[in-house]
Amino acid sequence: MFEIFIMDIFNSLQSQLIFGFTFLKNEDLIALIHPALAVVFVFPLIGMVANFAWQTRQRRLAVAGGGKSKIPPVVGREHVQIGRWLTGSVVGVTLVALAYSVVFGSGGFLAQQKQGSLDSFQVTFVALMFIATIASLVLLYRARTKLWRAIFATLSGMGLVILGSQDGVWRLSNEWYWSHYYFGIAVSLLMIFSLAIVEDIYKDRANRWRYVHIILNCLALLLFVGQGITGARDLLEVPLSWQKPAVYKCNFNKKVCRVNNPDIFKEIDIIG
Ligand code: HEM
Ligand code: HEM
Repeated sequence: MFEIFIMDIFNSLQSQLIFGFTFLKNEDLIALIHPALAVVFVFPLIGMVANFAWQTRQRRLAVAGGGKSKIPPVVGREHVQIGRWLTGSVVGVTLVALAYSVVFGSGGFLAQQKQGSLDSFQVTFVALMFIATIASLVLLYRARTKLWRAIFATLSGMGLVILGSQDGVWRLSNEWYWSHYYFGIAVSLLMIFSLAIVEDIYKDRANRWRYVHIILNCLALLLFVGQGITGARDLLEVPLSWQKPAVYKCNFNKKVCRVNNPDIFKEIDIIG
């Protein structure tokens, strides 16, 4: 009796072992990199930045009202320090996502190679755009004067937009209001803008830049929530690479697949 019980547990564990990463090909594993980075690295940073932002504001309002605040003055600096990390990691995650789509996405480099239409000039151009975008962001971190900050912020933003408009990137343009792509690019641009105006926020006695920053980044917070939702949705909808030929045979309007019918199931070799 006891042996059967142990065997049952062993068998069920063994059948579970089949899952895990077993059915993921390299292409699918690469597709997981940016969602994993976002969940493990970016979203915790957003929580910290938002928490320090709230405290910075509470403290500033208390002090401006002539009162005292229990919140230590360091919260503003902490907000900016982690904010700088946030900008780099959001742009980084977007670049990783775009690199995946440009290479593996439908109509991307690999698909073009299979069709024999891959243009080596295009590949070189895209590779250079990645390098130029990263270089502009690094220079934005170092720039101090208003002019250079404006120049490098514009260049890194343009880099993202140009890379995002390459073939292979799934943009969902006709439904932009819940497109993971448009939210991702918008939020990356907002982070770049925040980094670019740090000095202006501090210098502006009238707090205009501060209010611009608050309004835009409250929007960014909403977009980040949207990224979590639309990203999880996309992960659910995009089939594993080797399942694509079968899944794309489904009738998406009627929400049925031919494989629902056991007779047809025998006819087509979906296991491959
Ligand atoms: C989701 C992202 C963010 C949100 C929601 C946010 C929000 C805020 C809020 C509410 C404040 C306080 C404003 C006040 O005093 O009333 C603030 C201050 C500030 N933020 Fe952000 N922020 C975000 C990201 C960033 C990033 C990425 C940077 C730059 C890299 C940044 C730079 C600053 C600076 C320089 C201040 C002034 C700090 C001080 O007074 O000491 N923020 N932010
Ligand atoms: C701050 C967070 C994130 C940013 C900035 C971001 C950005 C992007 C960008 C720019 C793309 C390329 C557009 C495309 O080809 O579709 C993309 C694709 C994708 N993202 Fe994210 N993402 C984030 C978080 C997430 C999360 C949390 C998930 C899942 C849990 C996710 C899942 C996906 C998937 C599945 C795709 C590919 C969609 C496709 O194949 O068309 N993303 N992301």
